Amino acid sequence: MCGIVGYVGHRDALPTLVSGLRQLEYRGYDSAGVAILDEDGLWIRKEVGRVDDLARSLDGAPRSQVGIAHTRWATHGGVTQQNAHPHTDGVGRIALVHNGIIENMVPLVAMLRAEGVVFTSETDTEILPHLIRKAWRGDPVDAVRAALRQVQGTFGVAVMFADHPDIVVVARNGSPLVIGLGDGETIVASDPQAIVALTRRVIHLQDRQMAVIRADGAELHGLYDGRRHDQSVELIDGDYGVADLEGHPHFMLKEIHEQARSISRCLNGRVSREDGNARLGGFEMRPRELVGVQRVVLLGCGTSYHAGMVGAMAIEAMARVSARAEIASEFRYRHPIVSNDTLYLAVSQSGETIDTLGAVQEVQLKGGAVRGIVNVVGSTIARTCGQGVYLHSGPEVAVASTKAFTSQVAAMLTFTLMLARTRNLDLGQGRSVAAELLAIPEKVAALLANPGPIDDVVESVARARYVLFLGRGFSFPVALEGALKLKEVAYVPCEGYPAGEMKHGPIAMIEKGAPVIVVAPRDAQRDKVVSNLREVAARGARIIVIHTQGDDELAQLADIAIPVPSTPDWASPLLTAIPLQLLAYRTGIALGRDIDKPRHLAKSVTVE
Ligand code: AGP
Repeated sequence: MCGIVGYVGHRDALPTLVSGLRQLEYRGYDSAGVAILDEDGLWIRKEVGRVDDLARSLDGAPRSQVGIAHTRWATHGGVTQQNAHPHTDGVGRIALVHNGIIENMVPLVAMLRAEGVVFTSETDTEILPHLIRKAWRGDPVDAVRAALRQVQGTFGVAVMFADHPDIVVVARNGSPLVIGLGDGETIVASDPQAIVALTRRVIHLQDRQMAVIRADGAELHGLYDGRRHDQSVELIDGDYGVADLEGHPHFMLKEIHEQARSISRCLNGRVSREDGNARLGGFEMRPRELVGVQRVVLLGCGTSYHAGMVGAMAIEAMARVSARAEIASEFRYRHPIVSNDTLYLAVSQSGETIDTLGAVQEVQLKGGAVRGIVNVVGSTIARTCGQGVYLHSGPEVAVASTKAFTSQVAAMLTFTLMLARTRNLDLGQGRSVAAELLAIPEKVAALLANPGPIDDVVESVARARYVLFLGRGFSFPVALEGALKLKEVAYVPCEGYPAGEMKHGPIAMIEKGAPVIVVAPRDAQRDKVVSNLREVAARGARIIVIHTQGDDELAQLADIAIPVPSTPDWASPLLTAIPLQLLAYRTGIALGRDIDKPRHLAKSVTVE
């Protein structure tokens, strides 16, 4: 979603700002802009489209040692040049970029209009430079503070001033900002990815903090009380880095093919075949505490919610502990009952999803304990939870999540083994679970080396008016995930459904030749799924089945059969999801879609 970069230092700001924006492109955006200084004041360019379009408009730019830049994902107002950031005050001496949403926009706009302010965009953001101008008494920090005191909602802002060319003022409430401390230069960004090329020494700005950024460092204050805050400088670890396509045409395909390695990185050093057990040090839970867990609630959005569904089923099936997955955006506003005997797990690739963060904060407010299952090291959710595990998948750049899903499932299965060993799983059973888990990367590698007749499915899916994904038990979240991938990457109308529920409505959608993708590994529910398959086949559906290798009886019932290696039912999503990821990818290619940056989507969803 929206991205911020700001710079003050000794070098020409513009190339640094533009390359920072390029590092944020993966997050999803629809327009981009930059503000620097020339001898008369602010020099601003904005373009609809890609950072490349912006870069092409920068010919003849002045050299400036300060600047701010932004990628916008439209929330208030259409995708236009006027609505792109930076926005300025009426006299063009203050420029500002903003991530987040101003919730009391209507009264603030009315107040400013009544005072004669003329708005040049439809955005909520434009309110902010006007408020700063209104509060101006000569001190930039006081003016930003006075303006932000009037604002309700979430924000990360970076502000520059034509009359104070040596500073950028930043403030945070709900939208992340990280300050990078270089040698005689300071950079700020909404995502460390835009910083690491310059420095790995960072300060994570906290909510309700602001900072004055100068070439020689940053000075932190309380946003509302103005009190000076100490800095805690951290070193960004090696997981960050400029992601490279490494010869693949798209990040999505690269990340699909990384899964044997990413799952293995997630399991290594955690799952022990010999002990028949697992260890997740970051959870900081001894067996005695694990025994006290009566319930597990997994919180997440989108793909992370689907992974949470798999985790909840595994925890119930293997550890016999009551568990459920919750959509974070629903959970946080439901006034949920939070109890001390429940363990809450926040599942997120980016660690920045605002609804998951909101759910975490709601649990914490009610006295509950939340652990994170997060990919991005040092992200807001990871920091807010304090305890938890990292997926160690490496950067996931494609908007459509693939390797993070399988790593999330692997991490939750690791936790499940740990929990189950404190209860009903004996050493022998623990060893066999550990062995099955550790065998997964090899099976994923074999599947990716020979993924089956996926290309035979692409044509009918690409021209379908409706595609139905069906699964039962552990395969139901996989059906949901397969449909989500196809929507995101190929924009093909489709839905995932529990196979047994299909005849209660969706079966009406089946026309002759409609592709129905049935996820049916050989598990306890396999025979029931076969009945459902026959029901849609009888109505003319074209059946594509994902089945366990060697299940020839099932393969013969399908128009196209895609085999996956055999594994226990609780591990099957780690394999059955992969052909569906490839199907979405190849269908997107066939339809000429923008695979890594699908329309309207953002990698990191930081608004509600
Ligand atoms: C996945 O393909 C999606 N882009 C999306 O559903 C994503 O999983 C969701 O926004 C949650 O993101 P997170 O894992 O970073 O919290």
